[in-house]
Amino acid sequence: MNAPVAAKGFTPAARELHLPTYAELSHLPGSKPHPLPLLRTIAFLKDPLAGVTANVRNYGRVYRVNNFGGWNIGLIGPEANEVVLFNRDGNFSSELGWNPILGRVFPRGLMMLDGDHHRADRKTLGIAFKPEPMRHYLDALNDGIARGLAKWPTEFKFYPAIKQLTLDLAAASFLGIAWGPEADQINRAFVDMVAASVGIVRVPLPGTAMARGVRGRTFMCAFFAREIPKRRGATGEDIFTQVCNATNDAGTLLTDQEIIDHMNFLMMAAHDTLTSSLTSTVYYLGKHPEWQDRLRAEVLSVRETAGPALPYDRLGELEQVEWAFKEALRLLPPVPSVPRRALRAFEFGGFTIPAGTHVGVSPMYTHRMPEYWDEPEQFDPSRFSHNRSKGRHKYAWVPYGGGAHMCLGLHFAYMQAKAFLYALLADYRIVIADDYVCDFQMFPIPKPKDGMPLRLERLTAAAR
Ligand code: HEM
Repeated sequence: MNAPVAAKGFTPAARELHLPTYAELSHLPGSKPHPLPLLRTIAFLKDPLAGVTANVRNYGRVYRVNNFGGWNIGLIGPEANEVVLFNRDGNFSSELGWNPILGRVFPRGLMMLDGDHHRADRKTLGIAFKPEPMRHYLDALNDGIARGLAKWPTEFKFYPAIKQLTLDLAAASFLGIAWGPEADQINRAFVDMVAASVGIVRVPLPGTAMARGVRGRTFMCAFFAREIPKRRGATGEDIFTQVCNATNDAGTLLTDQEIIDHMNFLMMAAHDTLTSSLTSTVYYLGKHPEWQDRLRAEVLSVRETAGPALPYDRLGELEQVEWAFKEALRLLPPVPSVPRRALRAFEFGGFTIPAGTHVGVSPMYTHRMPEYWDEPEQFDPSRFSHNRSKGRHKYAWVPYGGGAHMCLGLHFAYMQAKAFLYALLADYRIVIADDYVCDFQMFPIPKPKDGMPLRLERLTAAAR
């Protein structure tokens, strides 16, 4: 019998869960035990897409792997995405899937709650993403993007620049604080937390990213704790103030600790995903000038009457901008795989998978399956046009997940992407050298290994 998992904080059903042994999973196709599983993990991390592709080729759409030091069952394809993410029968726990990865630095974030607790808190937090507060966030984004772009040089590495800009934008739209020394301190603490959540060492040993992350969390928790009393009852137009004043169905406010946990998690959920997706979108537009020109024409046609700041009511007119962003999310999904843990035994693909099993679905692989995508390696935003989307499996494109845990910030993500591209494409041409191929590290979140050097050419009125 296996040792039971730690029960603290877990749902009652989870307390009885055991980690299935190799013997209990041996009826499934997949890899055999390896004397040094870490070596296998290192090889996998070098090229995760190739790793999943090889597993699907060798074993099929349900397979066993022991990457990351434990047995895990890969469930592949849109049907698997639907079963796991939609979770009709309540077989899967998001808390138990994500907690081993994010639990130390981002405990009790929304994605690490299940069932009624999750439903109630999601509804409460949803108040911060209603149209009225969103309008205000867009004002802050427009303003911050214009200031940020004005400071960029002509030739630079795009990834660190957009990472910094996304942090600065979050200081204003998430926290309602001005750019400056306080925002810089918060940014540093926050970056340490995010780095810790994806670091290899999972305990806070001195000198490790995890130790810095735990210190960052202490700093951020103290910041939120100090600010909450000031924000309660106030009418700020930032996400933090909205969350401080949001009430549940019974009219009750979130507790201070709940606000701290949700804010830490919200900022993390938004930061690297936006940084990654804006980087990949700009990369593909740099490599595909014909699409860049189409998007620029669309942007300029809105700008003609709307002016330099994108109005909330006109977001819907940037249709092709949205296709391009979606296509970048298809090719390089910021959350390449999504973990869950089975709360009870379930059937999939003709196999019985025991309770307690860690399972994972793969947006990264599904998004390139030739069964669902014509020429999957090609950047072709028009595949997201209304006509070409018709009839596609609903779970073939899942960069935001699906079901109860589907990304709460997806409209915010589209809004920031549109505000950024609206400002960028109207005034600049993205130039990427013809012979440059960006090498994206895929896990845990896609990012260019070399920072992605590029040039922004300022457009004159005549050149637009
Ligand atoms: C392109 C950008 C983004 C991508 C690709 C993305 C992706 C995802 C995915 C895949 C999930 C679900 C994970 C799961 O089911 O286990 C998720 C959840 C979540 N995301 Fe995003 N995200 C993005 C931006 C944002 C932003 C900007 C925010 C906040 C403003 C945000 C807040 C959240 C929250 C709160 C959850 C948890 C939802 C829940 O558990 O109910 N995300 N995101």
